[in-house]
Amino acid sequence: MTTRKLLLLPGDGIGPEAMAEVEKLVTLLNAERAAGFETERGLVGGAAYDASGDPISDADMNRAMAADAVLFGAVGGPKWDSVPYEKRPEAGLLRLRKDMSLFANLRPAICYPALAEASSLKRELVDGLDILIVRELTGGVYFGAPKEVVDLGNGQKRGIDTQIYDTYEIERIAKVAFELARTRRGRVTSMEKRNVMKSGVLWNQVVTETHKGYSDVTLDHMLADAGGMQLVRAPKQFDVIVTDNLFGDMLSDIAAMLTGSLGMLPSASLGAPDETSGQRRAMYEPVHGSAPDIAGRGIANPIAMIASFAMMLRYSFAMVDEADKLEAAIAEVLESGTRTGDIMAPGCREVGTSEMGDAVLDAFRRKLAA
Ligand code: NAD
Ligand code: IPM
Ligand code: MN
Repeated sequence: MTTRKLLLLPGDGIGPEAMAEVEKLVTLLNAERAAGFETERGLVGGAAYDASGDPISDADMNRAMAADAVLFGAVGGPKWDSVPYEKRPEAGLLRLRKDMSLFANLRPAICYPALAEASSLKRELVDGLDILIVRELTGGVYFGAPKEVVDLGNGQKRGIDTQIYDTYEIERIAKVAFELARTRRGRVTSMEKRNVMKSGVLWNQVVTETHKGYSDVTLDHMLADAGGMQLVRAPKQFDVIVTDNLFGDMLSDIAAMLTGSLGMLPSASLGAPDETSGQRRAMYEPVHGSAPDIAGRGIANPIAMIASFAMMLRYSFAMVDEADKLEAAIAEVLESGTRTGDIMAPGCREVGTSEMGDAVLDAFRRKLAA
């Protein structure tokens, strides 16, 4: 029987609450589909810092490297506001991305018809929305050196971050965007700020050059500030958006609100496929954070985490039928009016995290059996 090794890193705040709902799906797929998932648990973020003094231990890092897929909850929170910068919870997430070379972060923003009213935009602007943000995840200002605060000795300090992109980094993320566009509506919009940033000039040139191998895909360029504006003015004009690490972070939080809530947006962080086996390192992580304002109350929306698990089925294990059915189960539950507080609407039934997880689980079980 196939075995598939999963490393679960629930993290902090609502991370463990959302992860518990995914564990129910793992159990169901092992029973109903002989999926062979073997789960291990590790610590990341503040939870790891409290246990070991590091936001991820070397042992858990090695487990992540050896796993077939990693499922990540969320990290951070006010409890760790004063830990040293290098040890802050978010550093654990950044190390996972960097050391696993997860350069391609896929952030689909889909507005389920039932949730069009939960968006902060008018229904007609978001109803049927289906866009994919392809965010570069291991380069740019997140990792460029120098990155430091320097004491200038005159009572002034200088904070420095460095944006760096090399040709190969831009080329490989552009290829991911073009290839995914081929499976969708065939349009890529690249966003940078070539009017201000040298890395933006290079980004624009390399994406344009890479596009020559994809003449069946349409490519547009937008300045990232104007792109942000277009994303809330007329989001349905986009198919795939490809952008750098920092712009991708901001644009995906904006896109989340088009779908109704940050609690809805999943993501897949992928490495390059191995040349012989075709296997790629991968981590699946909701776009949202640890939500300290609602953590511990059992009211967080687990759908971003569950939909991240669906992306895992699709991208790491080619379990396309199961992924389709899980996404359909989410849509059905939303359609039935079952809602967590963040997406609550008049006439709907408000439930907590585990009831939402159970509702999706039940709908998924029925679809698997059909
Ligand atoms: P956040 O995403 O945690 O929360 C922003 C708002 O969205 C909050 O009001 C929160 O209640 C709400 N929200 C988020 N997820 C939700 C869900 N599943 N269901 C219902 N409501 C939800 O962002 P923040 O408050 O800016 O950051 C809190 C901490 O999380 C910080 O330490 C930050 O660094 C960290 N963070 C971690 C990740 C990650 O682990 N991937 C991502 C973003 C932020
Ligand atoms: C995200 C988060 C992370 C990022 C933080 C927590 C490091 O905001 O995944 O969107 O900035 O990439
Ligand atoms: Mn973010």
